[in-house]
Amino acid sequence: MFLSRLHLRNYRNFAEQVVEFPPQGAALVGDNGQGKTNLLEAIYYLEIFRSFRGAPDEQLVRFGEEVFRAEARLSDGLGGDRTVSAAFDRRARKKKVALNGAEPERLGDALGQVGAVIFSPSDVEIVAGGPGGRRRFLDIVLSLAQPGYLSAVQRYRQALFQRNTLLRKGSSRALVEVWDAGLVLAGSRVIAARQRWVAARADSFAAHYERVAGGQPGRLGYAPSAPEMAEAQGEAQVQEAFRGALARAADREQRRGMTLVGPHRDDLRFTTLSADGAVLELRTYGSGGQQRTGAIALRMVEAETIHEARGRQPLILLDDVFAELDPGRSQRIIDWIETEDGGQVILTSPKPTDFHVRGDTLPRWGIRDGVILQD
Ligand SMILES: Nc1ncnc2c1ncn2[C@@H]1O[C@H](COP(=O)(O)OP(=O)(O)OP(=O)(O)O)[C@@H](O)[C@H]1O
Ligand SMILES: [Mg+2]
Repeated sequence: MFLSRLHLRNYRNFAEQVVEFPPQGAALVGDNGQGKTNLLEAIYYLEIFRSFRGAPDEQLVRFGEEVFRAEARLSDGLGGDRTVSAAFDRRARKKKVALNGAEPERLGDALGQVGAVIFSPSDVEIVAGGPGGRRRFLDIVLSLAQPGYLSAVQRYRQALFQRNTLLRKGSSRALVEVWDAGLVLAGSRVIAARQRWVAARADSFAAHYERVAGGQPGRLGYAPSAPEMAEAQGEAQVQEAFRGALARAADREQRRGMTLVGPHRDDLRFTTLSADGAVLELRTYGSGGQQRTGAIALRMVEAETIHEARGRQPLILLDDVFAELDPGRSQRIIDWIETEDGGQVILTSPKPTDFHVRGDTLPRWGIRDGVILQD
């Protein structure tokens, strides 16, 4: 399956745009502010039904318009086609998603149809920013790759909200505890899935980091909200550890008026080693380039995850990724794309000199003021 056609109407600065993509992909070159990121954002919107930039749907509607619509056609090259579409009405604040023209029962059923991974300059925030961004990363990847994960997150949020409301009001322990069973059940599912994913991907992350960084080591680790959860293996043990951690935190929770342990306080840890062997957090001690390398290695393991979950090469979207990297690192990312034997790649850059991916097999298109210029 590859993205063979994209149709945008009133999405950001695109009025009406139809693009036909070849199986190998395309390279888009255009000045700043012409719509390069908007185009990749629209494609990825059809993967997760929201902006990867975190923009609310209202902002995606073209200025002065009411409704945006985006539709992707995915083809297997043998005449088998599927479509995925999304529309948002700003006035009614209503989002509509369809697979082959039919609305799925739940939005969650439609996630991940495109099978894409997006690399963007803002990814560095996953490594360098606060833990919320790292949890969001985990939630998106695991929602795309694991059936049941998203609904566990939603059940957890529900229980957490109720429990926090009671704690904030200073309700009695007995009332608060009513929510503990649901919190632990849904939360342990989330924690165990995150833990398993990090454990399964840690070696691969280290290998990608080391290769892109030209030999410097990099590690990915899971940092749960309470120490007992670090030792727990599998969902049953996590449940026990979670209950223990809640019991231990009960007095503090009453004082602070909020739930203090659980997956809403999880984190990921990115580390490297200093010249004398000390473990350094990339978040606090990493250079800009090292943090960027961590984010790229993370996207690479995400690509592997999507590949396994979908059983095919993901569509790789590269938004101006070479901008802040030294030539060695850029080349090693290109090498990685070459080894992704033949999956589709759509990349953007303001500089025509940036494209050395796949020799010259990718067609080069221009983009100006929300219009794609194909020759
Ligand atoms: N809802 C909207 N309606 C119309 N135009 C919009 C909307 N949202 C953003 N834009 C316009 O889209 C343009 C930005 O597009 P985009 O972020 O895709 O640029 P870019 O080509 O990636 O540039 P850069 O090289 O700087 O990253 C801006 O000119 C902005 O005004
Ligand atoms: Mg951009």
